[in-house]
Amino acid sequence: MAKIISGKELSAKLKADMAAQVAEFPEKYGRVPHLVVILVGDNPASVSYVTGKAKASETVGIKNTTIRKPETISEEELLSLIRELNEDDSVDGILVQLPLPKHISESKVIETISKAKDVDGFHPLNVAALWQKEDCVLPCTPKGIIKMLKAAGVGIKGKRAVVIGRSNIVGLPVAKLLLDENATVTIAHSRTENLAELTRQAEILVVAIGRPKFVTADMVSEGTVVIDVGVNRDAETGKLCGDVDYAEVEPKASVITPVPGGVGPMTICCLMENTIECFLAKH
Ligand code: GUN
Repeated sequence: MAKIISGKELSAKLKADMAAQVAEFPEKYGRVPHLVVILVGDNPASVSYVTGKAKASETVGIKNTTIRKPETISEEELLSLIRELNEDDSVDGILVQLPLPKHISESKVIETISKAKDVDGFHPLNVAALWQKEDCVLPCTPKGIIKMLKAAGVGIKGKRAVVIGRSNIVGLPVAKLLLDENATVTIAHSRTENLAELTRQAEILVVAIGRPKFVTADMVSEGTVVIDVGVNRDAETGKLCGDVDYAEVEPKASVITPVPGGVGPMTICCLMENTIECFLAKH
């Protein structure tokens, strides 16, 4: 039986601590932090994520403004909205929910958000700072994963960690954070040959490949720590499932994260933390 890391419980505790901290801000700084979330279109997964971010903001006491724009918004219109928010002193954090419609360049959007308000940690200057080990806003999902490992008492130093997935949002930055914790890190992906052979050597396995139940029991060794970043729909049941076949893998793992209720809530929790960090950096 694996130890299950509940991201839901851990994030509830961390959000309660942040709420107590934020409650003192009006007296100390004259106002609470303000996060602006921009949602383009009505992709159901994105709508659900944005709703989760608004709810968490309410719990923590952060002011949340969600701006919804139609799928047809032009790139220039979106960029000028971001520039306005950059100039607005009452705004501390700006998040544009990804993915964006094909006619809008995600990299242009990310680069337009001021580095100081980039609560996602996606701006090239924040990415560069991460890779140079300088102070920066850390991307939320990787930051949440490290917090979960630490909260579960998992020693990272010297361990063989395998990350499946090489995205800018999760795979690459989580590999860097694990490296900073002195793990020996391998990044695997959809084209990796003999993947199961590699993942069986992992003491810590982080899976962010975006394929339902991709990691099966034969791919993990007894005692592996398994972190599942996936959020997918199970084609058979229609229920949410991760990138890990939980029923198969859980009996072999020493520690595992569930889906839902694992990494997802920690991502949102770290977004709250990043918003507070951006606010405090200004005050
Ligand atoms: N879409 C999926 N994950 C994320 C995230 O962490 N931030 C943003 N902005 N969009 C996302």
